[in-house]
Amino acid sequence: METRDFVRLARSASVIGMGCWQLGADWGSVDDATALSTLHAAADAGVTFFDTADVYGDGRSERLVGQFIRERADTDLFVATKTGRRAAAQEDSHYTEANLRSWIARSLDNLGVERLDLVQWHCPPTATIERDSMYDLFDQFVSEGLIAGYGVSVETVQQALTAIAHPHIASVQIIANAFRLRPFVEVMPVAAQAGVAIIVRLPLASGLLAGTYTRDSTFSHDDHRTYNRNGEAFDKGETFSGVPFDIGVDAAAQLATFVTPGVSAAQAALRWVIDQPGVTTIIPGARNVTQAQANASVALLPATTPEYSNAVIRIYDEVIREHVHNQW
Ligand SMILES: NC(=O)c1ccc[n+]([C@@H]2O[C@H](COP(=O)([O-])OP(=O)(O)OC[C@H]3O[C@@H](n4cnc5c(N)ncnc54)[C@H](OP(=O)(O)O)[C@@H]3O)[C@@H](O)[C@H]2O)c1
Repeated sequence: METRDFVRLARSASVIGMGCWQLGADWGSVDDATALSTLHAAADAGVTFFDTADVYGDGRSERLVGQFIRERADTDLFVATKTGRRAAAQEDSHYTEANLRSWIARSLDNLGVERLDLVQWHCPPTATIERDSMYDLFDQFVSEGLIAGYGVSVETVQQALTAIAHPHIASVQIIANAFRLRPFVEVMPVAAQAGVAIIVRLPLASGLLAGTYTRDSTFSHDDHRTYNRNGEAFDKGETFSGVPFDIGVDAAAQLATFVTPGVSAAQAALRWVIDQPGVTTIIPGARNVTQAQANASVALLPATTPEYSNAVIRIYDEVIREHVHNQW
């Protein structure tokens, strides 16, 4: 598997990583055995980068990833977790040293490690990303050996640019895909110049870009694709990339007509993302072994065709841009 560098951590990661939210909760049910076999299938296929968070299933995702890394003790795996959403409300005042120390201690315990590879601030308020004392505190955590490095998961282009301007931020995690083009233009070049790694989440726009849903598709009641369609529980952009479902289904079907035979629409969508300059790793959320294997194999596919790339731009400009471009 191709690897790319987290320059500020002097460490590399597989270009195809794996997101582990769905192994915790909020995507319908994935039982423990399926979760573990999905993680192992990814690692067997060369995936070394796994993204989780302390709140996914209230720690369940971290505990499963912890069990998995103990079972793969012979493999050099890179686990990124997130912190900051255990407080009841998303306010800068909750990002205190005491809270952060206790949340980091809990992640260390859940993952069963002595030092966290990478801790990302979990989509904090803009004020938190702008506050210099946050960076100083996390520099302190690094010097104490609690964490190897820190990054920030953001909602907006402006938040990403604010974080990248700080000298010790190792990574920015951001939504970017064929239905969310602005970060490729405004964030990735700046991050590459600064040596900040870019972790792309929602590379499939919550599954839309797999091109398998119809306008009539439904999701279970405990899946955010049911309960967060309009941002009822968290930022609307986290569900289907903020694209209205019917419009996304139609656009994904159009884009799928430009996919090379033998490649799935999901694989083409992932390949297109890793072919964009400045992307370090992508973290598709596989729900089973088949998806994990299909996603990992994208690293071996030929580069995206010009026909597909042109279709991405055209479809975005014609039907997607008005719904997302100026919001995030
Ligand atoms: N705030 C944050 O920091 C934040 C927020 C969101 C996500 N994340 C991270 O990003 C990761 C990925 O994002 P995401 O899970 O929201 O979205 P995603 O990767 O865009 O979509 C995941 C969904 O795509 C479908 N899928 C995956 N592989 C497929 C394949 N090979 N073929 C067809 N369909 C496939 C599955 O849905 P079905 O099987 O149901 O169709 C899966 O649940 C998360 O796991 C999490 O680690 C972070």
